[in-house]
Amino acid sequence: MANILAIESSCDDTSAAVIINGNIHSNIIATQSIHESYGGVVPELASRAHQQYIVPVVQKALKEAKLAKNKLNAVAFTQGPGLLGSLLVGGSFAKSLALSLNIPLIGVHHMQAHVLSHFIDDPKPEFPFLCLTVSGGHTQLILVRDYLEMEILGQTKDDAVGEAFDKSAKLLGFPYPGGPEIDKHAKSGDATRFVFPSTEMPGLDYSFSGIKTAFLYFLRDEIKVDDNFVKENINDICASLQHTLVEMLMTKLLKAVNQTGVKHVAIAGGVSANSGLRNRVQVLGKENGWQSYIPKLEYCTDNAAMIALTAHYKYLKREFLSMEASAMPRMSFP
Ligand code: KG4
Ligand code: ZN
Repeated sequence: MANILAIESSCDDTSAAVIINGNIHSNIIATQSIHESYGGVVPELASRAHQQYIVPVVQKALKEAKLAKNKLNAVAFTQGPGLLGSLLVGGSFAKSLALSLNIPLIGVHHMQAHVLSHFIDDPKPEFPFLCLTVSGGHTQLILVRDYLEMEILGQTKDDAVGEAFDKSAKLLGFPYPGGPEIDKHAKSGDATRFVFPSTEMPGLDYSFSGIKTAFLYFLRDEIKVDDNFVKENINDICASLQHTLVEMLMTKLLKAVNQTGVKHVAIAGGVSANSGLRNRVQVLGKENGWQSYIPKLEYCTDNAAMIALTAHYKYLKREFLSMEASAMPRMSFP
């Protein structure tokens, strides 16, 4: 019997979830809209907002799960990677609660949790599987051998694909985070209208800084000729950019499938909510005979349910943090 409360506070979402014997009973997310007008997450404001939201969010998660605090067997939190000030709010809260209840504390790696979000609901992937984990801060190709046994096969050497979406969206005048806006407009655009240069890194690594700069110069040059260029072509611009980014992701994913021979392929992280990416992974899966796993939209972006699920497996293995040691923050992949 394991009742675990999990807290996620790595970036700009304050979230708490309760997992009981491996089943999620609540998953509360408070999104900090304060960053929208700044065009990106302001770390100082994010920490303050976490401080403000954490108590009501935890209370709501326990209430919705109909679980009293004293029935908890462990408290889990996102240990890293993420914004230091934001992580410290969730980590300190979790540590204090675990100490006061005299129960174990579990530290969870944020990217490992994104991968394990596939085990919240059915269909669950079979081991081993490949996971393309794409978020605002990461782009990784991961070989998942077991719940807590993962190997990074390739990753971005500079910007994450989510950053390429968000920075390009900012240039187009969309509020932060702009990834979903590009996705929305791309749906009615012509993806072949504009061509952007994509960078190909050796092996299974990625690079997204080049396309970001190329996009900046493309807009600058077009706007010089026509002031209304963006307004008049917004859907085609978004569709073409999205197409390029998705194909860059797919090239290495295909290579990873061929190299490893693994025929179960998942996507995870905020950018896995992108409709172009979701479709493409399924189409390529059918063409190449692999089984694809596309997460439910609610589990793509940051949430504490994925932290709780990871904590459940760590609890089974008794992987607890010492209360004396500094628990903050762990940035390297487990
Ligand atoms: O995993 P996540 O919530 O936070 C991090 O761990 O970074 O990912 C956030 C990222 C942002 O860059 C956001 O623009 C992107 O996910 N995102 C999308 C979509 N929904 C969220 N990017 C493209 N299309 C979407 N539909
Ligand atoms: Zn994330």
